[in-house]
Amino acid sequence: MKRLAKAPDQLPLTKREKPASLDSLRQEAAHCKNCDLWRNATQTVFGAGSPKAKIMLIGEQPGDMEDRKGLPFVGPAGRVLDEALAQAGIDRSDVYVTNAVKHFKWTPAERGKRRIHKKPRQADIQACRPWLDAEMAAIRPDVLVCLGATAAQAMLGAKFRVTQNRGKWIDSGLASRVLATVHPSSILRAQDDDSRNTQMQAFIEDLRVVAEFLKQNKKAA
Ligand code: URA
Ligand code: SF4
Repeated sequence: MKRLAKAPDQLPLTKREKPASLDSLRQEAAHCKNCDLWRNATQTVFGAGSPKAKIMLIGEQPGDMEDRKGLPFVGPAGRVLDEALAQAGIDRSDVYVTNAVKHFKWTPAERGKRRIHKKPRQADIQACRPWLDAEMAAIRPDVLVCLGATAAQAMLGAKFRVTQNRGKWIDSGLASRVLATVHPSSILRAQDDDSRNTQMQAFIEDLRVVAEFLKQNKKAA
């Protein structure tokens, strides 16, 4: 495979005068061919939000809608996320949203034209990791929130279990505070309205832990 654009891991952070700006990273990432996923995707879906965001949310990879629009969390999972953030009292302007993998990995539906989400492999996550690290370095969020097992295991290790450790602060040097919760897509897959509501409430509760920390922090500042 020909590697055209250089991923930022080939430019160690210590050699950069300061972390690359989000805009320049976004431009570089638009041409990334560091793994094969770009071939079947429409475009790179880089993170979005304020460079001054206090919270960075990490999802898995863009979905069908994100791939078309070029923005993270703008499809059905994004609507669940927006609703939960609002209910938890987290301002969208305090948040930067991104994904562990930045191209849509999919497989054609057996019938029809739908593109079915395919879970990224460890190798895909690893190939894309330099972008995530560069986003972290550019934003230096106070709080890092991993949405779902893919992001949590990428950031906190393969043994990390979201079901056991969700909604709790995790001891990690990645940011002042690190927390994992479910992926909003899991709520969309709930069997019925009752379990969907219960799961949504639990998701909101996890995000309230983050909201509370920000509130305390603002008071202290
Ligand atoms: N799911 C994700 O993990 N990320 C998106 O951007 C959309 C859906
Ligand atoms: Fe590059 Fe990540 Fe896309 Fe692979 S998925 S081509 S590493 S941006």
